Amino acid sequence: MESAEIRRRWLRFFEERGHTVVPSASLIADDPTLLLVPAGMVPFKPYFLGEVKPPFDRATSVQKCVRTPDIEEVGKTTRHGTFFQMCGNFSFGDYFKEGAIKLAWELLTSSVEGGGYGLEPEKLWITVYKDDDEAEAIWRDVIGVPSTRIQRLGMKENYWSMGVPGPCGPCSEINYDRGPEFGVEGGPAVNDERYVEIWNLVFMQYERGEGSGKEDFPILGELPSKNIDTGLGLERLAMILQGVRNMYEIDTSRMVIDKATELTGVAYGAAPESDVSLRVVSDHLRTSVMLIGDGVTPGNEGRGYVLRRIMRRAIRNMRLLGADKPVVGELLDTVVKAMSPQYPELAEDRKRIETVALGEEAAFLKTLKTGTNILDTAVSDTKASGGSVLPGDKAFLLHDTWGFPIDLTLEMAAEQGLSVDEDGFRRLMKEQRERAKADAKAKKQGHADLSAYREVADASGATEFIGYGDTSGESRVVGLLVDGLPSPAAHEGDEVEVVLDRTPFYAEGGGQQADTGRIRLDNGAVVQVRDVQQPVPGVSVHKGVVQVGEVTVGAQVFAEIDVTRRRAIARAHSATHLTHQALRDALGPTAAQAGSENAPGRFRFDFGSPSAVPTAVLTDVEQRINEVLARELDVTAEVMSMSEAKKQGAIAEFGEKYGERVRVVTIGDFSKELCGGTHVHNTSQLGLVKLLGESSIGSGVRRVEALVGVDAYNFLAREATVVAQLTELVKGRSEELPERVAGMLSRLREAEKEIEKFRAEKVLQAAAGLAEGAKDVRGVALATGQVPDGTSADDLRKLVLDVRGRLQGRPAVVALFTVAGGRPLTVVATSEGARDRGIKAGELVRTAAKTLGGGGGGKDDVAQGGGQNPAAIEDAVAAVERLVSEKA
Ligand code: ALA
Repeated sequence: MESAEIRRRWLRFFEERGHTVVPSASLIADDPTLLLVPAGMVPFKPYFLGEVKPPFDRATSVQKCVRTPDIEEVGKTTRHGTFFQMCGNFSFGDYFKEGAIKLAWELLTSSVEGGGYGLEPEKLWITVYKDDDEAEAIWRDVIGVPSTRIQRLGMKENYWSMGVPGPCGPCSEINYDRGPEFGVEGGPAVNDERYVEIWNLVFMQYERGEGSGKEDFPILGELPSKNIDTGLGLERLAMILQGVRNMYEIDTSRMVIDKATELTGVAYGAAPESDVSLRVVSDHLRTSVMLIGDGVTPGNEGRGYVLRRIMRRAIRNMRLLGADKPVVGELLDTVVKAMSPQYPELAEDRKRIETVALGEEAAFLKTLKTGTNILDTAVSDTKASGGSVLPGDKAFLLHDTWGFPIDLTLEMAAEQGLSVDEDGFRRLMKEQRERAKADAKAKKQGHADLSAYREVADASGATEFIGYGDTSGESRVVGLLVDGLPSPAAHEGDEVEVVLDRTPFYAEGGGQQADTGRIRLDNGAVVQVRDVQQPVPGVSVHKGVVQVGEVTVGAQVFAEIDVTRRRAIARAHSATHLTHQALRDALGPTAAQAGSENAPGRFRFDFGSPSAVPTAVLTDVEQRINEVLARELDVTAEVMSMSEAKKQGAIAEFGEKYGERVRVVTIGDFSKELCGGTHVHNTSQLGLVKLLGESSIGSGVRRVEALVGVDAYNFLAREATVVAQLTELVKGRSEELPERVAGMLSRLREAEKEIEKFRAEKVLQAAAGLAEGAKDVRGVALATGQVPDGTSADDLRKLVLDVRGRLQGRPAVVALFTVAGGRPLTVVATSEGARDRGIKAGELVRTAAKTLGGGGGGKDDVAQGGGQNPAAIEDAVAAVERLVSEKA
């Protein structure tokens, strides 16, 4: 039975039994606790937890999943894949253990003609959680599975959770006996290769807390209802139904193995090592295509790194198999062919997937060779010194400079019998990250010593930000630094850093620039604030200069921001949210934010996109944004729990650290985003948004820059003035400009061609005169002369050859001169008759050029040269004539 058919049967079976068919969610989990979707239940998690009321009691899906913790097992065992499809049926407070068990049994054991999978009941073995008497009784008494084929296992095997706080419960697994050729008997408790798990029924009933591993976590309590979550591995069932020995040989994967064989000439089954490589290629390529298809691009963090690791591992395994050219293009083609019956969007998106994949292959191949040499040297050095562990700094170097993911280094070292100091590697990675962070901060702060700020923070706590509602307010100085050192007072002219207990000043963060403004004291002193930063979280440091008077710690102050600047920044920030949403609407979820800067009247927004965004799309996006402005949508902010924010569909960036309480900024019905920044109250305040185009700022990341409000108006007004001036010049209407200018340019090109033609003709007209004027030098016709200045070397050569043609039939020499760019130039040609007498063009040019103060040369028949001194042309003509008469 083909994979596509297994999927169809699954969905049909459950749909006929009252389940709503839910399409697979993207592999990019909408859940900040997860990098990628590892199980079918992920999209339903809020239903299990009771956070959201499910729109149905029963659901079924075939969910795309990626799991990478077992990546090094891929290809070695029969059933570890990084990508797989989990077929699931779910009950939210509807049927429970008995319902789930009966459905599973019916589907597995019904005949193929009857719509089932037709497995023999005697081959199915059951495991239940160690104290789950109820489940065991159902299997034994309701279904009729003999007790001998039901085994009890512990928490590790038969208690399921996502590995993080969330829903959990005991589970019961259905295993298939593949027969004695796969090992000893005794059931899944003894041998999980022979008795392979195909279906896991989770009785989702409790909520778990923080903990480690599969066994060590607290149970917080019962879920609001008793639920069912099941997962059947589609590839595992395919392996059984297709009668192959492992998951990589099923229909969809086998196609990729065969392609790899075709590309490398290494047959499947030739040797155990090459078989592992072929399976790795098949598995990893498929995972890569599915990830890129869902919008992941290779990178050094998060899911980008997962993709990079598996792609590079696949490419290296192809090298091990002997491929020496790029291979990803053809393999990818096969994966798309194999998978598109189930995922038609892959075929539609092929071009984009290919661009991303080929880019990564090219990048890796560039460094693979040098990196391999470095690794080999490090391995020999380690062995020579009697060691067996490759030092962490080498692994770090390979990662940092040569793009070797750590598991690639591990694998390559292991092939040569070495292990790697992974702890050392991770320490260096961590140090590097911290260095980068500290550098970035130090740059901002001017000095890296944060202890002074910490002291202030410890003494007076975090700064209260009042700037969402107020632009000025009373406050008190709680800390003062002069030249980076705590100081009780600062005086006129001092550069100071002032910490207040409450402030309307927004400290730079979340892409939004800081406010500027003034701090006034009751005693008349004034601090001009240029910048505001939070060097330690929560403490706003106002940087500036004391303009008048004396500032002391403890003084009462009145702080006020530059309102015009703040408004312009707020306009930019709200416009950034609109742009983010409009880009996502146009390009899909790949267009996630990668960075931004909101400055007065302008912003830039960086987002993921594998290729340039076409101008037409940008124009649409811009139009969309401006239409939203005119809808006068209110912009509101609300603090809520993270789970509430998610429930409301707020956009949050994975990898960003958010607290449990988050601030959500909503723009009418158009956008909802986690954000701590300051915004306008209504979109109509933005006036106008003008996108200035987009560009690439790195692999897979694009940037749009834009103007907002008056700045956008000024830009457009300037453009309009230019257009008006042009319109005036061409005496047409503005919409005719492109056509008119294009017409003018083409006429100009025509005219230039025409001029060029006339000039060439004029030069050639001189030919007749020059040929007639040839003098006889001892039987050799010698034509010499100087043609008008500015004749090009090409034209001069044409003229010389033309004159020689006119003197054909007799021994002839033509030597012409011109001045181009202030320098003399000569071309000399000889006829056959002259050459027979030993007169050579090259020699004549050398003589002439020497007289001209330069050099030149060429063949016997035509040669060219030049010099420095145009006044010497007459002498050069004479020198040529002398030489001709000597030779003739
Ligand atoms: N959620 C269960 C699993 O992933 C079904 O095994």
